[in-house]
Formats: sequence, structure tokens, C-alpha cells
Amino acid sequence: MLNEIKKLRESFNQEIDGISDGDSLDELEVSYLGRKSGKLNNILRGLKDLAEDDRKKVGPLANKLKKEIEENIVIKRKELIHGKASEEFFDVTLPGTKFPEGHLHLVTQAIREITHIFEKIGFTRVKYPEVEWDYYAFGALNMPLDHPARDEWETFFIDAEPVGPKGKRILTPHTSSGQVREMEKGKLPIRMINISKCYRRQADVSHLPMFHQFEGLLIAEQVTIANLKGTLEYFFKNYYGPDRKYRLRPFHFRFTEPSFEIDVSCDLCQGRGCKMCKAGWLELGGAGMVHPNVLKAGKIDPHKYSGFAFGWGVERVFLMKPGLNIPDIRMLYNNDLRFLQQF
Ligand code: PHE
Repeated sequence: MLNEIKKLRESFNQEIDGISDGDSLDELEVSYLGRKSGKLNNILRGLKDLAEDDRKKVGPLANKLKKEIEENIVIKRKELIHGKASEEFFDVTLPGTKFPEGHLHLVTQAIREITHIFEKIGFTRVKYPEVEWDYYAFGALNMPLDHPARDEWETFFIDAEPVGPKGKRILTPHTSSGQVREMEKGKLPIRMINISKCYRRQADVSHLPMFHQFEGLLIAEQVTIANLKGTLEYFFKNYYGPDRKYRLRPFHFRFTEPSFEIDVSCDLCQGRGCKMCKAGWLELGGAGMVHPNVLKAGKIDPHKYSGFAFGWGVERVFLMKPGLNIPDIRMLYNNDLRFLQQF
């Protein structure tokens, strides 16, 4: 019996030395310590057949070997996992591996910031459909069918035949389609900020086929251009800081009278003129006093109520933030992490 224990120790030591992967170590463990046919258990099981004196000698030795085998297996397993002896000093206070941390997309950040600025002065964020009826995008905005002004919006039409009185379905080319939808809710006064996706057939350094607009609409009694200008001023100061230059240019929209386009001094060329802007000013979008016909379409009495509206591109407004220096609006949507991670 003593001899068998000695041999078992030797064979175990030899076998464990040759092991280099976890699976073989598991097999070795079972072949020595396994309950049914493990080599050591065979010996322990035979103890009961020994004379009492022998049992007293062999028993402790067999148990000692069992412990030894168990310990060696634990050490070997650690070695296989860590590739080195387990006794080595391990500093548990070292910082762990850092997981890469992302951030919200630049356009999402811009939408949140714009929303926040307008919420502070009582506007409520809404969202209207991207697939829209002709009626809300044009008809209700004082642009009857076949009116030439519609051409300015380079609209995508959906092939399906019109159903119902609201005409064809389109991909909304501007957030002004939310104006009459908001009025149809029947609640006054209105202080809406509609931020939604818009689509137009256009793509170059300053245009995207899919982009976002934010549309402000305020309807109440005695609203004047002074309120519109004050609101724009407030937005510019809060979004760009106190020194940024902007201008209102007289323009024409069918759904506002009078109408303006709003430009901001170009941050890329500091007003010198570049590919992004025209002669130092970048057009952000339009604005004006809501046309009485639009109020009528929304069942609001133009003799009692008046209002202003403005609609600007989120991406363009964002690009003009001081110091960004992004030379092409399409870069925002290339999804190149090397670009996005810089912000
Ligand atoms: N919807 C217009 C555009 O996309 C902008 C605009 C909005 C003009 C509101 C006037 C009032 O060009």
C-alpha cells in the first residue's frame, strides 16, 4: 500500500508537469480525485480491508497525498490563467481597464441645446411626421396646387396615389408643415418649437438630403415683429455668445408677411467668404409674421391673433458654433469615429 501511494505521487507529479491547458487539467483532476474511479479514491476505498495497524499508517498518508494533489491542481490552474506563478504580487488597487466611452451625436447635442434654450422662454418641443401630406407642407401654407413657390423646396414625392382630401404624400421638406398641425390642436396661445427631420433633393458642402430644422411658432394677441426680433436676439446670444453678428434680410415666403432670411457671420472664414457661405454670411433659414391665410387654415381669427414663425437648419446652426471649423456639412453624417471623437 505504501508503495502504491509513492507511485501515485510520482506519476501525478510527472503528469501535471506536462499539462499546458485547462481541459487536460480537468481530465487529470478527475482521473486522480474523481469519486467513482479516481486513482486516489481506489486506495482510500481499499483502506477498510487493511489490518488496523496498517490502516493507521496508510490512512493519513493517503489523505496527505489527496491534499497535495488538490493544492497542486489549484496552483496549476492559476498558472494557466495568469501565465505566471500565482504567488506573484498583484496590486488590487491599480485602476482597471477603461472601457471606451462614447457621447451623443453632435446633432443630438445641438437639438438638445436648442430645445433647452427655447424651453427657458416657454416654448414646448414637439415633433411632426416626416412623411407628410402635401396639404400641411404647402396647401395650408398659402401655396395652392401648382403654385410656383413650391419649386423652392425640391421635394421628394411618394409614389402612392393620394388618399383623402390632403393630397399627395411627401417627405416633409420643412418643419413649417407643423404650423397648421399645431394650430389644429385648438389651444391658444401657441409657443411651439418643432424639431424634425426634413428631406430635399440636394447635397453639397452646405446641403444635405436629410437634415433637421427647428421651427418656432408663436401665436397670441398683439404679437409684433419686435417680439420676433427679440426672440432671435435671445437665441443668438445664448447659442453663440454675446458678440456674434447676424442679420435679417427682406425675403419672400408665401406663408409669412413680411418675411426675412436670417444670416449669421461665417465662423469658418470669419466673414471673408468661403465655400460654405456666401460672401461671409451663412443663411440659416427663414422667418416672418404668420400670413393671415395660414391662420385661417388653422381656424384662428387673424383679426384677433397674430404671430411669428421661423425655421432654421439644425446642422447649419451647429456648424457656425465658434471654433468648430468643420468645412463640409456632410461630415456630420459620415459616421467616421475619427471625426466624431474630436468633439
Ligand atoms: N420653411 C422655410 C424654409 O424651409 C423657413 C421659414 C420658416 C420661413 C418659418 C418663414 C417662417 O425655407
